[in-house]
Amino acid sequence: MSTDTTPASELLSSFQLGDLNLKNRVVLAPMTCARAETTRMPNDLMAEYYSQRSSAGLLITEGTFISKQAIGWVNAPGIYTDEQGEAWKKITKAVHAKGSKIFLQLWHCGRASHSDFHDGALPVSASPVKQNGEYIHTPKGKKDYETPRALDASELSEIVLAYHQGARRAKDAGFDGVEIHAANGYLIDQFLQSKTNTRTDQYGGNPENRVRFLQEIVTGVTEVWPANRVGVRLSPNGNYNDMGSEDFRETFTYAASQLDNVGLCYLHVVDGLAFGFHELGEPMKLEEFRKIFSGPIMGNCGYTRETAEAAIQGKHADLIAFGRPYISNPDLVERFRHGSLLTPPEDMTTWFSFEKEGYTDFSVANT
Ligand SMILES: Cc1cc2nc3c(=O)[nH]c(=O)nc-3n(C[C@H](O)[C@H](O)[C@H](O)COP(=O)(O)O)c2cc1C
Repeated sequence: MSTDTTPASELLSSFQLGDLNLKNRVVLAPMTCARAETTRMPNDLMAEYYSQRSSAGLLITEGTFISKQAIGWVNAPGIYTDEQGEAWKKITKAVHAKGSKIFLQLWHCGRASHSDFHDGALPVSASPVKQNGEYIHTPKGKKDYETPRALDASELSEIVLAYHQGARRAKDAGFDGVEIHAANGYLIDQFLQSKTNTRTDQYGGNPENRVRFLQEIVTGVTEVWPANRVGVRLSPNGNYNDMGSEDFRETFTYAASQLDNVGLCYLHVVDGLAFGFHELGEPMKLEEFRKIFSGPIMGNCGYTRETAEAAIQGKHADLIAFGRPYISNPDLVERFRHGSLLTPPEDMTTWFSFEKEGYTDFSVANT
């Protein structure tokens, strides 16, 4: 038997997130685990994974496709059919049974996809700017990235509708809210950033225009959910998926200031550099977002218990999301509480295996 000798923790204290009471400020970061098989249906194995990690105050699901066009990852789940929506119920139920809350992350890959996912049709993006990178995993194996097809402005309302429908299905499935994935070089980020958006219409050029698509999606989603149940994720510093724009600070400052007008549940900022940094200037810090965004702020990336505690005590963040540490430590909160050692992250090859190995087979500490 161990006794709790750690000093009072703000990270582990409860937090009022809008009208949701979270039992602590630890969040399971959204992580694609690719266990949904080719049907992209949530299943029992996934319910077990989320249930195991329900000691977090809030769980955010892996990125979940809002439409077939949104697809760009093998075996990642969807919420574009009623059957998928129905199947998510077992996951929300399992998490609620353990007293936690869960948001669904709404995802569209845009150019970070391949025609193999789309019966030969090119992936879509803001502009025909090809992603540099080694290769993409497709249903037919590793392939080179392709130059995407630029979406016509007239097609965007259909995508906004798909976000709206995904949000509605998430509500019907018992989620507590949704997170709009506008980070990590996927479709919304491709619109936000000048590197991937060379449009000359009302969706391109200045930050005002580049943020417009995200604003329309927020509007579509908040027709279903009150704004205080909708979060948005941004990654101003990241180079994942070949991102990073010279004017990143101007863009993300403007985006956050606009999102502040909506009364969102939270702004989720991938502020840390441990997932790749574009090195195009001083990285944006949570403190900068605090000045422009008045709602709750969630930090992420490379945090340890100590740095998370410091960010919360310093009032830079209200919540901290943990990704890789949560894969190999399903009882992360208990380990933090008892000061137990963490199991180091698993070999990356098991992250996207189709098995329980590297997913639900991690042991819990003997606290
Ligand atoms: C296996 C894996 C899958 C991920 N999938 C997603 C995802 O679906 N959506 C997303 O926004 N970020 C995704 N990320 C990024 C994480 O949410 C997080 O930003 C990153 O792991 C850095 O946080 P950490 O240092 O705590 O791991 C993924 C990361 C990993 C390791």
